Amino acid sequence: MNSPHEHRPSWDTERLPAGRDKVVAVRQMFDAIAPRYDLVNRLMTFGLDVIWRRRAVRDLALPPGSLVIDLASGTGDLCIELRKRGHRPLSFDLSLGMLQQDRSGSPRTQSDILRLPLADHSVDGAICGFALRNLLDLPDFFAELARVVRPGGRISLLDVGRPTNPLIRAGNAIHFGKVVPLIGRLLSDGAAYRYLPKSVAYLPPSHEILDILRANGFADAQHHQLSGGLTQLFVATRNH
Ligand SMILES: C[S@@+](CC[C@H](N)C(=O)[O-])C[C@H]1O[C@@H](n2cnc3c(N)ncnc32)[C@H](O)[C@@H]1O
Repeated sequence: MNSPHEHRPSWDTERLPAGRDKVVAVRQMFDAIAPRYDLVNRLMTFGLDVIWRRRAVRDLALPPGSLVIDLASGTGDLCIELRKRGHRPLSFDLSLGMLQQDRSGSPRTQSDILRLPLADHSVDGAICGFALRNLLDLPDFFAELARVVRPGGRISLLDVGRPTNPLIRAGNAIHFGKVVPLIGRLLSDGAAYRYLPKSVAYLPPSHEILDILRANGFADAQHHQLSGGLTQLFVATRNH
């Protein structure tokens, strides 16, 4: 079964878009895959994504009642975890289609997370799941985090990883190169799920991401490999 979107991909899966083209392509892609996003996520990660999100929320290490922004919140899975730990989440995402699928009950705002409609130092924490590689400019994003998170506040950022173990890396390459596009084609949008493995190329190596975080107000930034490096997590405290 081909998806209704299969015949008109708005992005070129062979060439990664750049600049404003990337912003438009990313928004259109997530609008297209929003209805089946959660289902495909669970299948393609064998449910591990739930464990990774739980870990990201736990490592925020903020007390219950904290005001936490979920950036590029998608369908709101991280907001659900945040609420379970007693936090007060706010969702921000570029894609109206994704925000419409958000069942977390948190207040939702359509916004580019590089330019947040929030006052300086107005939140206790920020979390971001699987979106770093979709952003135009990581230094800009980290500077925006440093602007809105209060001194002593915390951030927790998840994204796909690059496993160092050769066996896990080979298995991961087959999974993302063959299995994920197949699941995507059968259940959602083939072009979008062919783009997904390629989009990892946008992500700098973890040591560079740490350097950018440390230079932008998060001096204690740390990196953790999850599930053998299938996923990575960056956690940090906003400098005082
Ligand atoms: C892979 S999804 C992740 C959704 C959710 N965080 C999760 O963990 O499932 C990436 C999300 O990033 C959003 N996104 C990408 N670029 C964005 C930007 N510049 N501003 C806001 N949201 C953005 C997309 O619309 C999409 O919902």
